[in-house]
This record gives sequence, structure tokens and C-alpha cells, in this order.
Amino acid sequence: MQVFKEKEAARRWMFQQRCAVDAIGLVPTMGALHEGHLSLVRRSVRRCQATAASIFVNPTQFAPDEDLARYPRTLESDLEMLAGCGVDAVFVPDTEEMYSSGFSTYVQPPKVALRLEGKHRPDHFRGVTTVVAKLFHVLPCTHAFFGHKDYQQACVLEHMNRELDFGVDIEVCPTVRDADGLALSSRNRYLSGDQRSRALSLIRALRQAAERYQNGERSTAALERGMRAVLQAGGINRIDYATVVDADNLTSHSTVPEQPIALIAAHLGGTRLIDNLRLDTDSLATA
Ligand code: PAJ
Repeated sequence: MQVFKEKEAARRWMFQQRCAVDAIGLVPTMGALHEGHLSLVRRSVRRCQATAASIFVNPTQFAPDEDLARYPRTLESDLEMLAGCGVDAVFVPDTEEMYSSGFSTYVQPPKVALRLEGKHRPDHFRGVTTVVAKLFHVLPCTHAFFGHKDYQQACVLEHMNRELDFGVDIEVCPTVRDADGLALSSRNRYLSGDQRSRALSLIRALRQAAERYQNGERSTAALERGMRAVLQAGGINRIDYATVVDADNLTSHSTVPEQPIALIAAHLGGTRLIDNLRLDTDSLATA
């Protein structure tokens, strides 16, 4: 597995690959890899003849009061895991390599970024669109793989890809969970044992909403009230949102839309967790 710290070397390798193969996949990450990340990598390795991953904790998507400084960094084991999955190349730039001094050009995110996360983390998606646009330029892939876990992020990037003509085939892969339902996240390592138990109320609340939807409940307010009650009963009091919206454009309606998705963002101590579930298609048993 090739490891590139510099943009030019990475780009040269990608261009060579693009001449040699039809499909070359990219899996962008911020490291601290877990099975969720690896599921994207495995999907790319299956789908494409060559796969590149990137590991970069992107400062422009963190607000000053967020966890940039303490974000887990586990480069050595990350590289081992990627090599074990059959990744061909990894791009691991440092901040100076990605952002030249005086950097001031940003990609304005699409409208879908203004809702939900956008309300609570105002500049977050601008950082995400900017860094992913840069990664698409440095690592000109045919396919890119993102997780359903960060559902709004995937929507934002699909819009950017379409509207700015990157021409990348974006695949959104299912959320990988622990056996008890907790969605895998690099931030789960921040949780104490007690906080981890309380974090299970996120999936409990989402599953309750899915069950009620599948039993015929069509009032958005009723489903949202139910999710909040489950979260609060589970000891989660700081809820950024617990909502049911249209999976296409993330708009909210008093009657549950045809393609409903429930999304939650909540805080446990100093850790902010997000999770989501499609109410119509995600199976209650396995989601
Ligand atoms: P990061 O949080 O490291 O996630 C990298 C990719 O892994 C994202 O597409 C995310 O949705 C996916 N992922 C995370 N947890 C998952 C899980 N449990 N199951 C399936 N996929 C999962 O998301 C980012 O990094 C950054 O914002 C990035 C896109 C790299 C831009 O900096």
C-alpha cells in the first residue's frame, strides 16, 4: 500500500491508475478508523479495481469550541487496517499541505446544508464541501463512498457533486452498528461506560419511531414527541434535534412524508452524537 503525504505525488498516482483501470474508488475519512469506515473501504475494493483512502482531520469543519484538538488520532493502526482491507493508496496530508497559509477559497454548500446540522454547526458543511472538493481534485476518483450514518453530509455532498459537475459516482453505504445497536463512531471512544449505555437511547428512539410509523402513525409531531420522551427517559437531556423529515430534501411536514427519515443529534456530557433511521425501508430487526 502506497502512503502519500504530498498532494502532487498522490495526484500523479491517481492519474496513472485512472489510465489503467475503469473504476477507482475514494474513501475520505478523518481516521480513528472502525468497522463503519472499513465497510466503505470493502465496498470500494469490491466495486472498483483500485481504491484510495484519505485520512485528514479537517480543521475547517470544526467550530472553535468543538473537539478538533482532542479528535482521536490513531494513524499507525489505521494504516494497518486499510492495508488489511486491500487499499492501494492512502493520502495522509498534514494541515499545511492541505491548506496553504492565507487560504481563503471555500465551496458554498447547497441549500440542504442549512437545515438540521447546519442550524447547530453553522460553518461545518462549508468545511466539509471545501475539503471533499479538494480531495476530489487531488484524488480524481470515479467512485466515492460515504456513510448513511452522516446522512445530511451525504446529501450535501451528492448535491455538490451534481451541481458542480464533479462527475463522481457517489455511493452511500449502510450504517454499521455494534450488536446492541449503537452506531459506530470515532467519537464513541469519548464515552464513559455509563454514557455509552445512555447513548443507546438514540437507536431506541429511532426504532420506536420506525415501529410506530410501520403501525400507521403519520403525525410528525407525535413521532417527534415519542423520540424525545425515549431520549429523556434514557437520561439524555440536551437534544439538538429529534425529527422526521423527507429523505430527499430534509424538509419537515406535519404529515410524515412518503420517504421519511428520522434523525437525532444529542449531547452526552461533552460528546455530541448523531444517528438516523429510514422509517419506511430500514428493517427494525437489523438496523
Ligand atoms: P469520518 O467521520 O471519519 O467518516 C468517514 C466516512 O465514514 C463518512 O462517510 C461517514 O459517514 C462514514 N461512517 C462513519 N461512521 C460510520 C458507520 N457507523 N457506518 C457506516 N459509515 C460510517 O465524515 C467524515 O469523516 C468527514 O466529514 C469527511 C467526509 C472525511 C470530510 O472531512
